[in-house]
Amino acid sequence: MATEPAARITPKLRRDAQNALYQRALQSLPGGTDSNFRAWGESTIYVDRGKGGKVWDADGNEFVDLRMGYGPVILGHGDDRVDDYVNERMRRGVSFSLTSEDEVRAMELVKDLTGWVDMARMTVSGTEATMHAMRIARAFTGREKIVKFEGQYHGVHDYALISVGPDDMSELGDADAPVALAWGRGIPGAVADTIIPARYNDIDALRRIFERHGEEIAAIIVEPVLGNAQAIMPQEGFHRQMRALTEEFGILLIFDEVKTGFRLARGGAAEFFGIKPDLGTFAKAMGNGYPAAAFGGRREVMDMLPDKVSHGGTYAGNRVAAAAAVKTLEILRDTNALETIHATGRTIQDGLREILDPVGIAYHFTGHPSMFGIMFREEVATEYRDWATTDHELYDAIAIGMHARGAMPEPDSREPWFICEAHADADIIDRVLTAFSDSLEAALEDRARGVPAPTATGAMSSPGAG
Ligand SMILES: Cc1ncc(COP(=O)(O)O)c(C=O)c1O
Repeated sequence: MATEPAARITPKLRRDAQNALYQRALQSLPGGTDSNFRAWGESTIYVDRGKGGKVWDADGNEFVDLRMGYGPVILGHGDDRVDDYVNERMRRGVSFSLTSEDEVRAMELVKDLTGWVDMARMTVSGTEATMHAMRIARAFTGREKIVKFEGQYHGVHDYALISVGPDDMSELGDADAPVALAWGRGIPGAVADTIIPARYNDIDALRRIFERHGEEIAAIIVEPVLGNAQAIMPQEGFHRQMRALTEEFGILLIFDEVKTGFRLARGGAAEFFGIKPDLGTFAKAMGNGYPAAAFGGRREVMDMLPDKVSHGGTYAGNRVAAAAAVKTLEILRDTNALETIHATGRTIQDGLREILDPVGIAYHFTGHPSMFGIMFREEVATEYRDWATTDHELYDAIAIGMHARGAMPEPDSREPWFICEAHADADIIDRVLTAFSDSLEAALEDRARGVPAPTATGAMSSPGAG
């Protein structure tokens, strides 16, 4: 009789300092963190530092970072080119509530790189950028409703937190008549009623919405790639058809390029897909991790500012953010950083294929090599609801295993892997692939033995992760 194989030993991470920090933080910060998305219970990670493509936690565990702060750190942590420039500029003072040349240069670069933005203004976060873009669209059209796609995340203001990311797809309502599902309490019903949820990649359904409500709809806001749903891509022609539909109904098209901007191409997703939106929102990659963000668009629309629409912010265009945007955007414009990032993403994907293909499980990559997901399902996903039919338990188990083995993707399959320029190093790529391969093998062995898969939150408290 064959003997049962011994349980694979998962490497243990040191957690003493982080456990102590967690207990301490719980006394002062709800969930022990400054964001719900970082609150992973007893597995909450407390960071010490990052450099290049790596990050070290407070216990000194070292990881290849595949989260990169949810995308902003496009060059690498602590990039000397950006940090030195920011340091030099910030010595002249940070906040004046006056306008510096750094801000003018930053917005000139946004115009230069996108090619379609005529005017733009800085904000501190992507949340503010989408909030202001929506307001300007309402003001410009004199209409109140905004269409947004299920599974898309546009930040944490009330108008954005509708039909974002439930685990249970039935909460989104009937597939033919989706409901405006508020994420969490405290969002006024009257606000939720101004948002019309739609299903990504379904142009016929979009037309029906426009035919029914077109006169009330100010704009449609879209993450050109579903960055918050494993980077699901548009089907061939979807953006072009959506652009045509918006023009037919006099509805503005807002590209939320917070994740895709200056990443998919120098001109972001608009350049990548060959679309000219009316408004765009930018953040993340434009500041390599510094809190730089912006919204901008056609002159005619942006001309609603400053007289007809409110926009302001004590920290809007602060020196640190503006200087970071100037240097980061200059690097992205003038060097081959993006080509390096795209090539690195492709190399990692090739390596993953070599690991996955012989195993014979159904999978496909979603997204762009610079931000991609791995979906365990045969058919290519086209919308958020498809995520529910993927083997995301397997993904979660692999991601958690990778943490234990020194590579850190988000332990939730909905978040893509983010590639930065500093990942272009054979050791880093090797480490990612080895961690993936070992974690896949362990997850499949556990499954065969009937060991329950660990869940995404509380991920690191799973057996073996320490
Ligand atoms: C597409 C998109 N829009 C908006 C936001 C909100 O940006 P921020 O977190 O800077 O408020 C995010 C954040 O992840 C995002 O991915």
